[in-house]
Amino acid sequence: MLPSFVDRPKGNEKGEFIALDLGGTNFRVLAVNLDGKGVATVLNVSKFAVHKKYMQGTGEQLFNFIADCINSFLTENGFKRTKTYDLAFTFSFPVQQTSIAAGVLIAWTKGFTAKGVQGKDVVNLLNEALKRKHIDCIRVTALANDTVGTLVAGSYKDPICDLGVIMGTGTNACYREKRSNIKKFKGPDFEGHMIVNMEWGNFDKVRLTCYDRELDASSVNPGAMHLEKMVSGMYLGELARRVLVDGIKRDIIFLNAPHAALIFKRKGSLKTSHMSLIEGDETAGLDQVDEFLKQKGISDSTLDDRILLKRLCRLVSSRAVGLGATAIAAVIIWMDPELRQMHTVAIDGSLFENHPGFPSKMTGVLRKLYGVKAEKIAWVHSKDGSGRGAAIIAAVAAFSEKNRKMMQE
Ligand code: GLC
Repeated sequence: MLPSFVDRPKGNEKGEFIALDLGGTNFRVLAVNLDGKGVATVLNVSKFAVHKKYMQGTGEQLFNFIADCINSFLTENGFKRTKTYDLAFTFSFPVQQTSIAAGVLIAWTKGFTAKGVQGKDVVNLLNEALKRKHIDCIRVTALANDTVGTLVAGSYKDPICDLGVIMGTGTNACYREKRSNIKKFKGPDFEGHMIVNMEWGNFDKVRLTCYDRELDASSVNPGAMHLEKMVSGMYLGELARRVLVDGIKRDIIFLNAPHAALIFKRKGSLKTSHMSLIEGDETAGLDQVDEFLKQKGISDSTLDDRILLKRLCRLVSSRAVGLGATAIAAVIIWMDPELRQMHTVAIDGSLFENHPGFPSKMTGVLRKLYGVKAEKIAWVHSKDGSGRGAAIIAAVAAFSEKNRKMMQE
């Protein structure tokens, strides 16, 4: 539970900001315009693949890569180097923030292990890299988690939005809390609310299966992020693969295709995107599943094999949906035990966006938990919310800084 140093925006924040989005296999640089009337528009965006050598090399290499990407973004989009641009850094890892624009990485998640970053202020590391690369036109004014960005972007337009959720490579949520309840916040104890980054991916009170335990043991952060490893896109395919391999070993599936065992033995041979394809196949003969298996080198699957494979994937993803929706319900129960008010959940992430039926299945679980009252909970798909939200946070920060200076003068 990490204080974010921001609350919901007012909706009248204005200006043009640059936002960075680091948190998975892609790094993005965006230019965002805020019209002051609840609309945050992405003007330019560049996407860069984060190769393993940067995720798992040194911090200096990772931050040099980030600075190089900013450089090419500025050049490609014609930003003048004589001006100064406020930049918001969405850094989607657990960070102990010490202000709106400073924070120390507690632990890497989602396969990142870059050395020399844990325990350091990531804004300092970014500033040092910008200096090394002679990029003088950037001022880093905000640091935010992607969930916080998503909630802020959602509530820029919709003032009843009070929960931000990511179901993507990782999973996490943030919500609004009374400042007086946030014991970890060391600032002045005044009235009002602050958004709390929950880091719920690290929740560990869920019962694990043998497959979860095996996956955990083979990950780069064993013992941590149990819920994330059961729910998010980085892990679901790998979980399903482990169940499949067990099924093959027990002669339950692919009885006529003995080489399937060898094909699926390799880590990464069944990805979450493959699960989406398999579960989305509505043809009677499961032709798309057949095509996928053929591409893998299994041309002799039976229809029963394909039905079983689809069912297996569905079991793994349904558990993820169930856990994700239940976690959302738990936060809403904390905020509003009787469900008296309406709540909008701003949500983003590749799993939510791309996995067949994910949003409607989440609604189904909420209905099971809440009955008709579930109608009080609405979703808004906050596309690119983390980047747009970070820009809004930068606008809030720039405004407070201007006010502070005016007060001093
Ligand atoms: C991981 C990170 C968290 C982030 C989430 C979604 O759980 O620890 O900070 O919000 O992934 O990207």
